[in-house]
Amino acid sequence: MKQLRLALLGFGTVGQWLAETLHTQQAWLQQEFNVVVTLISVATAHNGLIYRDDGLDIPTLLDLVATRQPLNAHPRVTHWTNVLEGLQATGGDILAEATGATLRNGEPGLSYIRTALAQGMHVVTSSKGPMALAGLDLLSLARAQSVQLRMESTVMSGTPVLSTIREGMAGTRIRAIRGILNGTVNYILSTMAMGHDYAEGLAEAQAQGYAEADPSDDVEGDDTVAKTLILAAAVFGRALTPEQVVRHGITTLSREQMQQADALGKRIKHVASLRLLSMDGTEVSRETADSGIVPTLLEARVEPIAFPLSDPLARIDGLLNAIVIQTDTPQQVTVIGPGAGRFQAGQGMLADLIAIAKSQ
Ligand SMILES: NC(=O)c1ccc[n+]([C@@H]2O[C@H](COP(=O)([O-])OP(=O)(O)OC[C@H]3O[C@@H](n4cnc5c(N)ncnc54)[C@H](OP(=O)(O)O)[C@@H]3O)[C@@H](O)[C@H]2O)c1
Repeated sequence: MKQLRLALLGFGTVGQWLAETLHTQQAWLQQEFNVVVTLISVATAHNGLIYRDDGLDIPTLLDLVATRQPLNAHPRVTHWTNVLEGLQATGGDILAEATGATLRNGEPGLSYIRTALAQGMHVVTSSKGPMALAGLDLLSLARAQSVQLRMESTVMSGTPVLSTIREGMAGTRIRAIRGILNGTVNYILSTMAMGHDYAEGLAEAQAQGYAEADPSDDVEGDDTVAKTLILAAAVFGRALTPEQVVRHGITTLSREQMQQADALGKRIKHVASLRLLSMDGTEVSRETADSGIVPTLLEARVEPIAFPLSDPLARIDGLLNAIVIQTDTPQQVTVIGPGAGRFQAGQGMLADLIAIAKSQ
């Protein structure tokens, strides 16, 4: 039986779901994957990090959170107010990082992930910030340390996009990707496609709890840009900055533009696209790009595009997300699924954990 010692940083919606699932599914995980996961440390912003060498009791932790008691009320724990120091002192085999890392500087997740990788821990993360801003660096660090860094939940939440590309499509050469990667924006556009204007679509999304009071991260495209940067690093091995992504949000789209598209048999969608181009702007194969003989660039765009109904993305409605992956072999793979939710994000982290356990 494989034994994995897990450090969990971030014990909010996603972290608690993951911990609870590891507890309730413990017997099944042992039977199915031959792995025992022991949660040795948990951290939050307000509680710092708690550690217990022989494992924390997950129901006790969940009860402490539910009754708003401090986590260090858990029996026989060592406590650090500084999470990074706690992580350095206690380590583990895997870090599950589920803090609310920002897109501005990737912190606190970025420092936690770097520290864990540097001390030889595998890492699974649901935080977009660190992977968007330093994805390639972190992946290189993981490779240098001979450990895995997995991030399924960062793009389309737990819908298996990255593992489809990495494992399922291993051996194909991916030359382009385009996708609907933000459920809130797609919900607003779907509402607009039914005859409403942008303000009405946003109000409806807010009323349903799908859009924040300040929706700018979604509607201006920042969230989709972050996911685009993660795909650039994870799929194309290229480090792009947010400024290198051509970005247009949906706030200026009018009811008339939606109606015009409809009259032409098209649907307007907010789409992230990545494709390999030669310096004169023509599309090149991945093989050519990888050979390095011809200089190439990775074009990255986030913008509204009108698609004919024959395009798979045209029919993705509401909160659904989808990604279309194009390879050198003239083959197109489309993955469709939910792009948000505590269950989905936690599931992505669980799948990443199991993938690491299976490779041990
Ligand atoms: N929820 C989803 O549907 C979803 C989907 C995909 C990806 N994600 C990503 O997953 C991550 C976690 O999301 P969530 O919904 O679980 O967020 P959340 O409910 O706000 O929980 C965040 C957790 O991180 C902790 N935290 C914040 N700063 C910290 C620090 N400096 N050190 C240690 N812990 C810290 C918080 O502690 P306190 O409670 O003490 O503040 C809290 O326990 C985010 O990056 C989010 O973008 C979420």
